[in-house]
Amino acid sequence: MKKITIVGPGRVGESTAQIIAKSEFCRELVLLGIEDGLTRGIALDIQETAPLFRFDTSVTGGDDPAAMTDSDLVIFTAGLPRKPGMSRDELAEVNLAILRTVIDDVLKYAPNAILLLVTNPVDILTYYAWRWTGWPRKRILGLSGVLDGGRMASFIAKETGFSVKDINTLVIGGHGDAMLPLTRYACINGIPIDQFLDEDAIKKLVEHTRKGGAEILALKETSSAYDSPAACIAAMVDAIALNRQRILPCVAILDGEYGESNIAMGVPVLLARDGVERVIELPLTQDEKQALAASAAAVRKNIK
Ligand code: 2OP
Repeated sequence: MKKITIVGPGRVGESTAQIIAKSEFCRELVLLGIEDGLTRGIALDIQETAPLFRFDTSVTGGDDPAAMTDSDLVIFTAGLPRKPGMSRDELAEVNLAILRTVIDDVLKYAPNAILLLVTNPVDILTYYAWRWTGWPRKRILGLSGVLDGGRMASFIAKETGFSVKDINTLVIGGHGDAMLPLTRYACINGIPIDQFLDEDAIKKLVEHTRKGGAEILALKETSSAYDSPAACIAAMVDAIALNRQRILPCVAILDGEYGESNIAMGVPVLLARDGVERVIELPLTQDEKQALAASAAAVRKNIK
């Protein structure tokens, strides 16, 4: 890619910028924030790690939206984070208002970009980004399942004592308390997890995964997770920038898949150069279908 813009140089945006710069996913990385000096300072700080990490990415920052001109990818991390005890959905009104102004800038300066939404409630923001841009759904996606699935894999590694490198997980649905960790698809090098964990342990794992973000927030008190979200965003950017054809769970706009339309939520997708090349539809059991429908209903209520 030639150019990536990160809108919102908060903790998630800054950590993401460092990984993207270091990984050389693009030649030019732009940080956009509402405070010009602060944003320029963050960019400069990252740029000065270049001799140590040995990267050629140019990193700049500021408050002028024109700096995103002709970006191939725009990552939206701006907005307010949750406070302990808050649900992600309580952020909808304020963060949608911020997104609305940024969408106008994106339409003006980067009309051919792929848009990756990170800010919560991410399913709702992804949906409205799609509606407000009018872009084909392949160019709009959000972060959810890579993060939730990563958490689940960490918990499985801890519970079993096995290497996390061999663990595969899949979490779909809305990025909220009703998310659906598909335990049937969780495996350790192809071996289903129920070979190693009993029903009770798996149930706890599901609950732990659903509460993973809130757990970190409760511990940190003044911040949500940012290191793991940044690593997950970087994995998604890597799939797009290097046209890897990876299958990753992302927030995507559904058009009939899983019996849902006119909604954004987490599903496995084929991620490559053009963005969401395809939504992968999996056969689900009756119980899984019900749980996914409940998760979709929660997202739909918030969209309204
Ligand atoms: C998380 O799950 C903040 O939604 C983010 O940590």
